[in-house]
Amino acid sequence: METLYDKLRQYRDAGVCPMHMPGHKRDTARWQMENPYGLDITEIDGFDNLHDARGVLREAMDRAARLWGAEQTWFLVNGSSCGVLAAVAACTRWGDEVLVARNSHRSLYNALYQNNLRPRYLCPELIPGFGAAGGVTARQVEEALRTHSNVKLVAITSPTYEGVVSDVKEIAITAHRHGVPLLVDEAHGAHLGLAAGFPAGAVRSGADLVVQSVHKTLPSLTQTALLHRCGTLVSAAAVERQLSIYESSSPSYVLMAAIDRCAAFLEENGEQAFALYRENLRRFDEQTASLRALCLLGRGREAEGRPGRHGIHALDPSKLVIGAFGSGLTGPALMERLRREDKIELEMAARTYAIAMTSLCDTRESLDRLASALLRLDASLAPPRALPAAEPALPLPERVLTLREAEERRGRVLPLREAVGRISRETVFAYPPGIPLIVPGERLSAELADHLRLLAASGVALDNTRHGPADTLEVLAES
Ligand SMILES: Cc1ncc(COP(=O)(O)O)c(C=O)c1O
Repeated sequence: METLYDKLRQYRDAGVCPMHMPGHKRDTARWQMENPYGLDITEIDGFDNLHDARGVLREAMDRAARLWGAEQTWFLVNGSSCGVLAAVAACTRWGDEVLVARNSHRSLYNALYQNNLRPRYLCPELIPGFGAAGGVTARQVEEALRTHSNVKLVAITSPTYEGVVSDVKEIAITAHRHGVPLLVDEAHGAHLGLAAGFPAGAVRSGADLVVQSVHKTLPSLTQTALLHRCGTLVSAAAVERQLSIYESSSPSYVLMAAIDRCAAFLEENGEQAFALYRENLRRFDEQTASLRALCLLGRGREAEGRPGRHGIHALDPSKLVIGAFGSGLTGPALMERLRREDKIELEMAARTYAIAMTSLCDTRESLDRLASALLRLDASLAPPRALPAAEPALPLPERVLTLREAEERRGRVLPLREAVGRISRETVFAYPPGIPLIVPGERLSAELADHLRLLAASGVALDNTRHGPADTLEVLAES
């Protein structure tokens, strides 16, 4: 019988280059732990308790707080998802109004559901050609907070999956002027603010709560994450109460040890490791400067993605966002070609681009391998087309009910074209990256139905809550 374990070992030995999470890049020569069975314990004497940390775990979390610049830091073993759920719940009460970026991860939408929250959305501009979300601006936040004076929380994602960093400092100042705390989902930015050459992180930019997946961009094991608290707008007690709900009561010491080792590594060797990483990225940029058909966001020939446009405050250089729109290739087709022809596995594909995730555990060799593969692929493609001047914004559906109100009603599944005009009872994501196109309680317009059909036809995996066919939608039975 072939088990999952067997399959993982075969894959490990297959020579595939991981341009995806986790950030340790499966480099078993550099990142080692003894057989985890020998280290896997529970809260025995001398090993503290994550839910009431006073000993060895408190010390480790304080070390992490110092490194990232937070007042207080909690280890998370259920990923950033658990941190986002706890953070939103710590700042809100049942039925509150909140201001959230539309391009939020599904964990934030789950948090809206949990507390029956009433979302007002901040819609980032889209980046022409790529169609990815740009940044949220302080001006958008100011306008929204002026219009909706009952908002209890502002929540944004920075950096995004594509590495777009918003002006967190200005957004924090704006939110605080209105007395509202700012939560930054920095799941993709645990490596920010730790070394020159990378944008500042949200903790040192004034956010009140910041959630980071250590496993995504740093050398740590999958599911490891951090929740940081800063300032006085959110109490530690409120956060801890929610963590006691959302986080396992048996947190893995192996995972917590991985976070602590990662922090110790960064403290001791971070500077040299980031310097080498920056140098390897610079070399990659030099090698790929001649790409003609493919285009890297914020790099090379295209101006798109430059800071100052589309709400982009900065771009995280670790994300290599490979635009394929000039070439006739879709994002999924590009991902498949690199997999088949070069044994390079990317992180994700959207409609017109794909993302290679790099980390300080990438080597000169791994980045050279990707650069050569892109140059080879580029040479086989048609000459480039001009980028569109603007990207039409995705239609923001009309919200009729909260997510929870809609999900508590009876539903029926209809083909998309018959669902037009009705209220959705489910979420539809383009997956990954997990940005919802419609959520429960919103009305499906004809325009959005067309857009969903277009996405599905271009090969992007559309996923709905039921995991049902992409050309159907579950709507409220009585709507
Ligand atoms: C923006 C964002 N936030 C939160 C999460 C959840 O992180 P985790 O997988 O660590 O739970 C993700 C995961 O992809 C994400 O992309």
